[in-house]
Amino acid sequence: MRRLTVPAIRARKQDGVTEEPIVMLTAYTARQAQLLDAHCDMLLVGDSLGQVIYGLPSTIPVTMRMMADHAAAVVRGSYHAVVVVDMPFGSYEASPQQAFDSAAMLLKESGAAAVKLEGGEAMAETVAFLNSRGIPVVGHVGLTPQAVNVLGGYGARGRSDAEAEKIVGDARALCDAGACAIVVEGVVEPIAIAVTSAVSCPTIGIGASARCDGQVLVTEDMLGMFERVPRFVKRYDDIAANIASAAEHYAKEVRDRSFPGAEQTYQPK
Ligand code: KIV
Ligand code: NA
Repeated sequence: MRRLTVPAIRARKQDGVTEEPIVMLTAYTARQAQLLDAHCDMLLVGDSLGQVIYGLPSTIPVTMRMMADHAAAVVRGSYHAVVVVDMPFGSYEASPQQAFDSAAMLLKESGAAAVKLEGGEAMAETVAFLNSRGIPVVGHVGLTPQAVNVLGGYGARGRSDAEAEKIVGDARALCDAGACAIVVEGVVEPIAIAVTSAVSCPTIGIGASARCDGQVLVTEDMLGMFERVPRFVKRYDDIAANIASAAEHYAKEVRDRSFPGAEQTYQPK
């Protein structure tokens, strides 16, 4: 099976209609990528790894080094899905040139196929600059976590008319600039509907209702790795409980000396 391509994903939406929704999950490690790959169209090496892997308070401190290394691991662990890597805060906002240098480094070091960056109209020129120089770009509008210090929190966006209009305008500007897809995060359903019908490229929703051309979730959220998750997350497993109970069982067996047993023990011939 050959790896899917960015144009193939883009072409899922034809004349405003997406027959087969785009399936995306985050992945940060090679093993995780191996397990998710066959089931996904796209794997996102999200800067959410700042919180999920590194225990950081937000995505703001995430570095280029982290993104390049985790993206390389995900590319090594996958052969089917399109791998998209998030551009970390501070690596692209200053100018199209800065964005190109950063995006080129991420793709060269990881082998990922596309980058994702946050922001709307203000980033349109950058999206066009990258796209025309060989770097496909996924946009990200609505709740953009790197802007937490401006937004003041992680609440749903688009509840006022002015905000709704801004989000639709942002998505349109990104799409016109050549974005191959747009993540729409944390918006009320009418905004998801408006954005999805306003742009010719596919929208990929997270906390943005079913009315998008695809869906993405943070894999650890979906697996039940955390006690607290946003309301838009559906938990498909309870991994946290399984890990805790395995650790408890292991600890007990080490303490009562029942592990390692004969089966786990090397003996001379
Ligand atoms: O960093 C991330 O995981 C993301 C998704 C939530 C869209 O940007
Ligand atoms: Na992100």
